[in-house]
Amino acid sequence: MKIIGVSASPRKNKSTHFLLKKCLEEAKHTAEIIGKPLDVELIDLAPLKINGCVSCDKCKKGVLCSQQDDFQQLIPKFADPTVAGIIIATPVYMGSMTSQAKAFLDRSVLYRRNGFLFKNKLGGVITVGGSRNGGQELTIQAVHAAMMIHDMIIVGDGDHFGGTAWANHPDGYQEDVAGINSAKNVGKRITEVAFMQNR
Ligand SMILES: Cc1cc2nc3c(=O)[nH]c(=O)nc-3n(C[C@H](O)[C@H](O)[C@H](O)COP(=O)(O)O)c2cc1C
Repeated sequence: MKIIGVSASPRKNKSTHFLLKKCLEEAKHTAEIIGKPLDVELIDLAPLKINGCVSCDKCKKGVLCSQQDDFQQLIPKFADPTVAGIIIATPVYMGSMTSQAKAFLDRSVLYRRNGFLFKNKLGGVITVGGSRNGGQELTIQAVHAAMMIHDMIIVGDGDHFGGTAWANHPDGYQEDVAGINSAKNVGKRITEVAFMQNR
């Protein structure tokens, strides 16, 4: 069983990546406590070039995409049936997800068009804003909408909607304890629920 985290920040090794890493570490830790094996993978979109969907409809003919960009290398990773959960981590840009997150989610329509390959996969979201209340929950909802369109099963942080963090914490994002804990709890919950499903 595997959980994939997608870091949808355009910046390498910044707060989004940091929070997602904490989340996936917590997922691994939770699996160890449960006593079952779990693979986790962090996919960083920052170095990748993924265009928006151009609606060419090639994916209506199979798990295929006409655009020869870095999304091609991701296609088999997410088509893997052992992937039980997908966690999207995105900065808040203008009150919503980044264009990197949106391009990824739009391009993921190819899985939906070929038998709902994300159906029953668990979905969790982590958002990080420059402001303490800059649209983190709105952004989570926007990503949740795409997950529901895939017929995924949404998991929160065991308390509210998901991970909500503050990049400009006065002591640095590494000290945003509440935000980090909310991100870690997404990893914990998604792992707990995945094993409850007897995958
Ligand atoms: C174009 C742009 C729009 C932004 N819009 C928001 C916003 O609406 N709300 C907010 O809290 N922060 C906003 N920010 C700040 C980012 O969410 C913040 O810098 C975040 O930490 C970026 O994640 P990173 O550290 O992985 O780069 C914006 C930043 C940029 C570049």
